[in-house]
Amino acid sequence: MTFQIRPYHLSDLPDLYRICLRTGASGADATDLYKDPDLLAHYYAGPYLLLDPDLCFVLTQDGTPCGYILGARDSAAFSASCERAWFPPLRQRYPVPAADDASPDAQIIRLIHAGYHPEARLSAYPAHLHIDLLPIAQGQGWGRRLMQTFLDHLRSLAVPGVHLGVGSSNVGAIQFYERVGFHRIFEGTGWIAFGQHLRSNEPQTN
Ligand SMILES: CC(C)(COP(=O)(O)OP(=O)(O)OC[C@H]1O[C@@H](n2cnc3c(N)ncnc32)[C@H](O)[C@@H]1OP(=O)(O)O)[C@@H](O)C(=O)NCCC(=O)NCCS
Repeated sequence: MTFQIRPYHLSDLPDLYRICLRTGASGADATDLYKDPDLLAHYYAGPYLLLDPDLCFVLTQDGTPCGYILGARDSAAFSASCERAWFPPLRQRYPVPAADDASPDAQIIRLIHAGYHPEARLSAYPAHLHIDLLPIAQGQGWGRRLMQTFLDHLRSLAVPGVHLGVGSSNVGAIQFYERVGFHRIFEGTGWIAFGQHLRSNEPQTN
C-alpha cells in the first residue's frame, strides 16, 4: 500500500464527499445517519473546494483518495464568498425544515440556511480548516503530515493564525490537535475551538 499527499484536483470531489460522510459522526462513519449522503459535505467540504481549492491537499492510497485537509485562508472573506457563490442554490434545493424536524439532515440544512459565520473571538486566527482520514489511513502519521503541508502553505501566504472546531466527544481528534501544536481557545456547547499562531519564528508542529 502506497500513500501519497498531493494537491486537490476537481476529479477528487466525489471521493472527498464520501470521506466527509464516512468520518462525519465525531470521526466515525455517518453513512447511516443521513438520508441525503451529500448534505454533510455540502457544508463541510464543497464550499472550500470551490472557493479555496489551492488550500486542499489529498492523501491517496494506491492513487485513490483516502483523506484530505481543506480550509479557508480568511474566514471572514470565506463567509462572504459562501453567501455569494455557494449557499443560495443550496437554500433553494433544500428548504427550511419543519421546526419539529430533529433529524441529522434537517440539522445540516439549517446550517446551510444560517450560513457560515466566523466567531469574533477567533479573529486572531483568520484561517480555518477541516481534516478527515478514512480508518485505513489513520494512526500512521499521515494526519500530522497533511497538517504540516497545510500549515506550511498558510505560512507561505503570510497567514498569521488558523483555528478549527472539534466536537467535544471526538476525543481522538482533540488529542491529535494538541499533539500537532494547537491550543484550546474556548469551549462552546458540544464543541471546542482550537487555534495555532503561525509566526515564522515559532516551531512548527511538534
Ligand atoms: C484525527 C485524525 C485527523 C488524526 O490523523 P492521524 O493520521 O490518525 O494521526 P497521526 O497518526 O498523524 O497522529 C499524530 C499525533 O496525534 C496523536 N493522535 C492521533 N490520533 C489520536 C487518537 N485517536 N488518540 C490519541 N492520540 C492521537 C498521535 O499519537 C500522534 O502523536 P505523536 O506523533 O506525537 O506521537 C484522523 O484520525 C481522522 O481523520 N479521524 C477521523 C475524522 C476526524 O475525527 N476528523 C477530525 C474532525 S474535527
